[in-house]
This record gives sequence, structure tokens and C-alpha cells, in this order.
Amino acid sequence: MAKEFKRYLVTSALPYANGPVHIGHLAGVYIPSDIYTRYLRLKGCDVISVCGSDEHGVPITIKARKEGVSPQQIVDRYHELIRKSFEGLGMSFDIYSRTSSKTHAETASAFFRKLYDEGKFIEKTSMQYYDEEAQTFLADRYIVGTCPKCGNDRAYGDQCEKCGSTLSPDELIDPHSAVSGSVPVKRETKHWYLPLDQYEGFLREWILEGHREWKSNVYGQCKSWLDGGLQPRAVSRDLDWGIPVPVEGAEGKVLYVWFDAPIGYISATKDLTPDWEKYWKSEDTKMVHFIGKDNIVFHCIVFPSMLKAHGGYILPENVPANEFLNLEGDKISTSRNWAVWLHEYLEEFLGKEDVLRYVLCANAPETKDNDFTWKDFQARNNNELVAILGNFVNRALVLTKKYYDGRVPACGELTGYDRETIAEVAAVKASLEANIEHYRFREALKDAMNISRIGNKYLADTEPWKVVKTDPERVKTILNVALQITANTAIAIEPFMPFSSAKILKMLAVDKFGWERLGAMDLVPDGHAIGEPELLFEKIEDDVIQRQLDKLAATKAANQAAEAAQHVEPQKDTIQFDDFQKMDIRVSTILAAEKVAKTKKLLKLTVDTGIDKREIVSGIAEHFTPEELVGKQVLVLVNLAPRELKGILSKGMILMAEDASGKLRLLQPGDTTNNGAVVG
Ligand code: 2FM
Ligand code: ZN
Repeated sequence: MAKEFKRYLVTSALPYANGPVHIGHLAGVYIPSDIYTRYLRLKGCDVISVCGSDEHGVPITIKARKEGVSPQQIVDRYHELIRKSFEGLGMSFDIYSRTSSKTHAETASAFFRKLYDEGKFIEKTSMQYYDEEAQTFLADRYIVGTCPKCGNDRAYGDQCEKCGSTLSPDELIDPHSAVSGSVPVKRETKHWYLPLDQYEGFLREWILEGHREWKSNVYGQCKSWLDGGLQPRAVSRDLDWGIPVPVEGAEGKVLYVWFDAPIGYISATKDLTPDWEKYWKSEDTKMVHFIGKDNIVFHCIVFPSMLKAHGGYILPENVPANEFLNLEGDKISTSRNWAVWLHEYLEEFLGKEDVLRYVLCANAPETKDNDFTWKDFQARNNNELVAILGNFVNRALVLTKKYYDGRVPACGELTGYDRETIAEVAAVKASLEANIEHYRFREALKDAMNISRIGNKYLADTEPWKVVKTDPERVKTILNVALQITANTAIAIEPFMPFSSAKILKMLAVDKFGWERLGAMDLVPDGHAIGEPELLFEKIEDDVIQRQLDKLAATKAANQAAEAAQHVEPQKDTIQFDDFQKMDIRVSTILAAEKVAKTKKLLKLTVDTGIDKREIVSGIAEHFTPEELVGKQVLVLVNLAPRELKGILSKGMILMAEDASGKLRLLQPGDTTNNGAVVG
């Protein structure tokens, strides 16, 4: 039998405060966690939802250095941006905290110190890269060099962003420090490690035996980590941004960001309520971590081992991690600006918060990676929210206004069809609950939408607008039922679309209902005066979508140009001066140019080399028109062995440079000079 819990603690991955939140974060983590929490609240459960900004780690220091500001300034900026945009989307965290807070520093320090005092860490020295010029150890991200796999000369010590390979600094060719540019040396440094290998038995039993019900992507990842054998993990770093390691002899060392961040859930709870221990230390609490798939190992293996080592804390009951959301077929990427940013969406789609919530839930990457497209966003809005939900609610309210001056008509005798409809609505509750409680939010959303589908069908089948002419008494019952279904819709959609739910309640002029009322048919009493009907959703036109697609196209073009600009051919093998001397390069003028018949690429050029006038055939017809070449002074390799091309003897070669995009440019003398001038 499933265990009964007295209270819930919902955590949502703490977003890094080094950039804004995008739709991938929302679909993966925050929309599901908010649905779950709102549902539990509506049921009247004792539930708290905690989140906050993750404000430590190397990427924040890199960004600060790049912008010439302090890391604190970076996190202040993004913490505020993220907090506000979450609020704008209706995220209902009970607290949105931050890991640069005093409470957090104290909590994380004390946590480390307890494990340290109890001998739960091992101390190890290792050789790490050190920048002698800047006098600092270098995190892997701070070492740049050439990727051994693809030749990208801006690969990082932990990853090449061009080919996606995971790297170690030792693999980089010509590694140098991103801080000073100098060549780093290896130096000995001491760190503290959590011996995860010692927790393997506990983890196997707890997850592999005890939590077979976890989502298969989560369970599978845990199993493969455990089967691969766990290694001790360093929990400190040489860095000047973070929580200082609270032991003697640890100057210049801070807690590893992945050690302190999950403790952030605890410190956020402490800041929320003095009763925090009730949520963290009682087996009656059900703790659920909402995260993306890249966080699984930290929440299922590392943090639970930390909690176990500390003792006294509960472990998560479930970790319903999602897969990733792509955007228009490409991986979402902050560095490539390939994303839909929440704060921009909120500005550009005023009043359409629920549309994004709806689309991201309907298309959530629950079992596999999924794709967000603007066309799908438009279609779901127009064909589902407007045509089904909005249409039903509007018809029920407008007809009530029209026929009964906005007063809820009394329900007369129910027909068999009415009863069937009512039973169908009532049946949604069980399925909706089971789906939410098992973290199947896409299915749950379909259930919630089904209520208005049922309502729409009911109105279409009963046709009150026709019946009103022949049997006005019957219409009273029909509209009473339709209004009860409308109120049911408001309850069912609240976890998913809280703004629209509130709007329906306002139009019905009723207070918020508890979840237990879902399925009831006495939600709006006879004679009750409803408010003014308004449209719940508006159609989204093509031009609005096109603007978003254009924005993405511009981003793609900018990325391609930047990428191309980065690509430089490696230097060729060394040659001797004599080899160079053998080449006779002369300034020459192009006298005539014409296309070579029946070819796409060839131009026949007549050039004055100063030595003679000769013909050269060049494969540049796709880059230049004959007209733009005539009269230009160029550089010509004149002693290249002649070659016959398409029956023309080509005597020499025009020198060109090929840029990163593959475009050819003529090489020309800076000033006009005499033909025949020697280059060298
Ligand atoms: O992946 C991330 O965005 C991390 N900042 C998540 C941290 S979750 C928790 F441990 F704080
Ligand atoms: Zn690479």
C-alpha cells in the first residue's frame, strides 16, 4: 500500500543566476513543479514549494570577468530578473531565495563542518593547473586551447562547445589560461572528497530496490551510475567566489557549487518558516525534487549521500526529472542565444501567460526530448484554447446573460443525456488526480481540458439557442448544467492555467473552490448573478508568429557568421626561403574577362603582367561578374606551369583569399602601382 504522508516539500532546481530563464527550464522543471504544488494546495494539503537562485560556480565568475563587474553584481542582476519573470508566469513558490544569502552560507558551512568533524570526507592532494601570472588555480572552464577532436582553438578545459566533446584540460592542445593568457603550470592542491563509493550499498537498496516506481529515465540513469561504480567526489574548489571551506588551512578554497546548491533547498525552507525542521526531518513529509535530466546524478546520488552522511534528514520520495526541450529542431543554448526567454515572452505576449504554460505542459518532454515550435504554439492556442476552452466558457456565459439577464437559471428535471454528461464530468477527477500524482502532467492536462470538451459537446448537442424558441424551460436546465461545468473547468485548470481559472471565477462571480468540489453540480447557485463575460483567449495571427520566427532566423544568421569567423585553417608545414623565392608573383591588371562557354565556374581573364599580356582561366565565376573584374589590379603567380582548361591555355594564377564563409576576395596592392612590380 502506498505510504500516507502528512505534508509535502516540493523543490525546484535552483536556476543559475548567470542568465535568464528560458522555455527549456520551464517545460523541464518549473511548470510541472507549479502544477503539482497548486494541485496539492487546492486539495488543502500542507505543502511548501521552495526555490531560489544558484549563485555560485565558475560560469558566474567568468561572466563577471568578461563584463568587468563583480560576481555579486551579476547574481544580483539575474536573481532579480529570474524572480520577477517567474512571478509574471504565476510560479507560486512559497519562497524564492538565493544561495548568496547569510542563512545559506551558515547552513552550508555547518553542513560541511559536521561531515568534516565526523571524518566523513577524505582529504586528497592532486596536481591542478595554476596560473602563475594571475596567481590562481584554474577551474577547467578557465583553461582554453585547441580541441583535439575538431581543431576548434577556443575549446574549454571541460568541453568543446563546437563539437560538443567532453574534455579534460590535459587533452587540450596548447592550453593557456583564460585569465592571463599565460601557459599554466601544474601545482599541488588539497581538496575534500565525499567518498561516494562508501554509499553505493545504501543507494542501491534505496533506489534500485526501494524506488522501482521512479520514472524509467531517472531510474535508468541511477542504475547506470551505480553499475559503473561510484568514485569519491571533490566537494571543494580553488576559487574566490563561493562559501569558504570552514576549516583551517583552507584559504582560497570554497565549497563546490554542487555541494552548496542543494543545501539551498534547506536554507530556503529555513528562511520561509521557523518550523522548517518539520519539513526536512520528519518521515511524514514527502519530498519531491523537480529537475531536468542533467541534474539527476546530483539529486539522486550525490545529495542523498550527503544527507545520509549528515543524518537526521529525509530523502526525496521521488525525483520526476524531465528530458530536454528543443526549439525549432535545435538544442536550446544560452551561449548561442537559441532560446525563447521568459522575460521577453512576458513582455511580447502580455496577458498570454497561460498560453505558454499550456503549450509547455501539453508538449512537455516527460519521456523523451521534445520540440517547441512557434507554429505548434499558434495551433494549440487557436485550435485548443480558443476553440475548445474559450469557446465553451464564452457560450455558457453569454447565453446566460442573453436569456436570463445574467442570473443562473434553476435546474429542472434532468434528461438521461444530462445525467450522462454530468457523470462524464465527475469521472474526470479520478483520472486527473492519478495523472498528477504520478507526474504525468501532459495526460493530466488533457483530462482538465476534457471538461470543456464535454461542455462544448453538450451545448452543441442540446442546442439551447434553437430550443429556446420551443421549450424555454428546458433551456434553463441546459444552461444551469453548462454553468456548473464551467465552474468545474475553473477548478480543473487551476494548477495548469491559474490566470484563466481566476478569470472564469471572476466572470461567474464566485470564490475559489477547493479541489474536493470537482465534479459537483451545485457550484453556482440558482438565481446567482454572474459577472461580465470576456474572451478567455484570443486568436494568435500569423504575423505574430512570423515575428518570432524572424527573430530566430536573425539569431541563426548571427551565430553562423560568428562561427565562420572563428574558423581559421591551421598553418601549413614550414618551407625554406628558397621555396618562397621560386614563386614569381607580379602586380597585374585585368584587361578583359568573360565566361568560359558551357561552364559554371570558369572565367577567361586577359591580364597585363607587365611582362606580357596573357590569358588565365580562373574558377571564380560564382564569386565575381566579368564586369566587376575588368580594370582591377591584382596579384598573379606568373611562373605557374601552364595548364589547358576547356581548350584555353591558362598561364598563371590570380591570388585570392577565401574567407570563413567560403567567399573569395581579390588580393590587390594597397596603392595602384606599375604592372610587373615584383611581390616578395
Ligand atoms: O543545473 C542548474 O541549473 C543548477 N543550477 C541546478 C541546481 S539544483 C540544486 F541543487 F540547487
Ligand atoms: Zn571540438
